[in-house]
Amino acid sequence: MNNPTANAQAQFRSAMRRFTSTICLITTELDGVRHGMAATAVQSVTADPPTILVCINQSASISQPLKQAGHFAVNMLHLSHAPLVPLFSGKLKGEERFQHGNWISLDGMPVLADAQAAFVCSLKDVVHVETHDVVLGEVCEARFLEAIAPLLYEDGKLVRSSALIEAAA
Ligand SMILES: Cc1cc2nc3c(=O)[nH]c(=O)nc-3n(C[C@H](O)[C@H](O)[C@H](O)COP(=O)(O)O)c2cc1C
Repeated sequence: MNNPTANAQAQFRSAMRRFTSTICLITTELDGVRHGMAATAVQSVTADPPTILVCINQSASISQPLKQAGHFAVNMLHLSHAPLVPLFSGKLKGEERFQHGNWISLDGMPVLADAQAAFVCSLKDVVHVETHDVVLGEVCEARFLEAIAPLLYEDGKLVRSSALIEAAA
């Protein structure tokens, strides 16, 4: 007999592959040790006060330190950051991940100097949803690169954005 739950999960996963999302590196620092992971489950919540949400698997190595530190950064990746994605999603561990990329400290949080956009946040709330935490952060500081070329993720692949209609010459 069909297992509707397994089927619904498979359909959900396939449907989600149709989402195109911007890849971010979520980072934090606790007792001088940096933690980071790649994430696409990142969204703006409200502009007043500026608030952002990130969904983090409770089993990820950043989960506990981020909640303990009470601060984190969201580093939106630029196309040039494609090599960082596998490193920050399992290939390297802990501090090793930060040996790659141009990292600076902003308000005590690890920020990519050349991030497409970066947000330093103070932890506002955590909502537990099964395997994940929905982490809400109030943005203390935001910075960005003027030229827009974000690194996107679609159907399990890294992709780029392009305008549908080119500007008239
Ligand atoms: C493109 C991409 C997007 C991801 N998005 C998320 C996410 O939004 N939330 C999450 O918890 N994990 C996400 N992951 C998985 C984590 O990056 C990965 O499980 C984590 O870094 C590994 O955990 P570790 O730090 O314990 O090794 C994503 C991975 C990739 C490659």
